[in-house]
Amino acid sequence: MFSQLNRSSGEIVQILMTIGYDQYVSWTPELSVSVEEFDSQHQVLIGLIQKLYGAMENGEGDGVSTQIVKELIDYTDYHFAVEEENFRIYGYPDAEAHIAEHQTLLKKARELYQGLEQGRTVLSNEILDFLQDWVMNHIMKTDVKYAGFFNNRKIQIRDRAASSR
Ligand SMILES: [Fe+2]
Ligand SMILES: [Fe+2]
Repeated sequence: MFSQLNRSSGEIVQILMTIGYDQYVSWTPELSVSVEEFDSQHQVLIGLIQKLYGAMENGEGDGVSTQIVKELIDYTDYHFAVEEENFRIYGYPDAEAHIAEHQTLLKKARELYQGLEQGRTVLSNEILDFLQDWVMNHIMKTDVKYAGFFNNRKIQIRDRAASSR
């Protein structure tokens, strides 16, 4: 997956090592997309991955982990919707490709969740790596591209409870 990145794979691995890829993934300023609201939403996403690691480490049942994966997908769906709404409001030029990437990520994540729910997939470190990669790569490779665009623009954050997605 690293080979598809614009940043060199060595650079990405370096960043992942800095943020503790081998253990817990955590938000650091290197992950900043220079938009406060989106940085805080990314922190929530990373927090959910940490929660998942924690549940696995503590030997919680599969049901608990699967529920956290569901939470992660739901929050990601909401976060993507907020990004996309602001792309629309401000006419972000790279919106189309960015939204396509969101859809691919959600599709993969939903397949993963279905596998877990139906017992076809077992939550393993491999899956955690995938989730981590999914969130981190997207933030570092794709979200970071809007950093300059949203500079000084007021981000509209919809109420999550009222969100239709
Ligand atoms: Fe994002
Ligand atoms: Fe995004």
